Amino acid sequence: MERSLASGNVEHGTAARARAPRKSRWPARLDLAQSASGLLLGLFMWAHMAFVSTILVSPELMWAVTKMFEGYFIFGRAYPVLVSLVVAAVFALFIAHAGLALRKFPASFGQYRAFGQQAAMLRHPDTTLWLWQVGTGFLLFFLASAHLVQMLMQPGLIGPYESAERVWNGRWWPIYLVMLFAVEIHGGIGLYRLAVKWDFFGGADPADPVAAAAIAARTRRRLKRLKWGLSVFFIVLGLATLAAYMKLGYEIRHADGPRYVPAWLQNPPQADPPRWWPSWIQEAP
Ligand code: HEM
Repeated sequence: MERSLASGNVEHGTAARARAPRKSRWPARLDLAQSASGLLLGLFMWAHMAFVSTILVSPELMWAVTKMFEGYFIFGRAYPVLVSLVVAAVFALFIAHAGLALRKFPASFGQYRAFGQQAAMLRHPDTTLWLWQVGTGFLLFFLASAHLVQMLMQPGLIGPYESAERVWNGRWWPIYLVMLFAVEIHGGIGLYRLAVKWDFFGGADPADPVAAAAIAARTRRRLKRLKWGLSVFFIVLGLATLAAYMKLGYEIRHADGPRYVPAWLQNPPQADPPRWWPSWIQEAP
């Protein structure tokens, strides 16, 4: 309104208001969607590592987990397509999360320079963490997509021998090695930033700004310790798991299309079924 008056162009108030850019709720909604998708993916990765690392207990346990996802213990027959459905849902979430993250990537030389200047001025460790998150996220665009396409298209080839064969003979281990570090660093920083951003563990009293700042700083310190602890835990677990698949893959390297079948389901059976085995399932998947 002021500008139109100054230019001698007196406008009716309602018309000027109608032309003024309206504040949109969309940036906030997209931010929330990015946080929520990141949180879901982070939680999924914890579960993923728990399932994949069952190989450290025994090939038999890893086999049972894969067959559980294929519905074998419900239908008495394995349906790998069920795994594809889960992969498709995770892939959709991953693509949405990556798409939303693109909004935050510096897009030009000028923006990178501005970021560098800000980072040098602020000298805040969390700014450096953000840069690590951008870098590892960029790597994951490619690495995780390759892995997800593989899982989507060949869900029946997941199992102790099948996975070990892929990791060793299929030479996926270098990709998994890089992806393991990228995902654990990315996820650890992401969950930490979520906790800080949405004040999950804050509880500071805003009425006393000095006390509130001290509490916030203490919470951040604790969260950062937790973040590093989780990243190190999952990287160590992931390295041990990868080593187990590589060792098994090396041992069966000469087998042609190896499939794991537990001893009691082999034909003829090589052992009695364990006590937990459902008696109504007599046949191999
Ligand atoms: C529903 C989707 C997914 C399924 C079914 C799945 C399944 C598997 C399986 C079976 C393995 C063992 C190796 C193999 O069989 O090739 C594996 C390894 C791995 N996956 Fe996934 N995965 C999924 C999604 C993801 C995503 C989204 C990421 C990361 C962004 C990821 C990261 C990894 C890593 C880093 C390893 C190596 C594990 C290690 O070093 O211990 N996976 N995955």
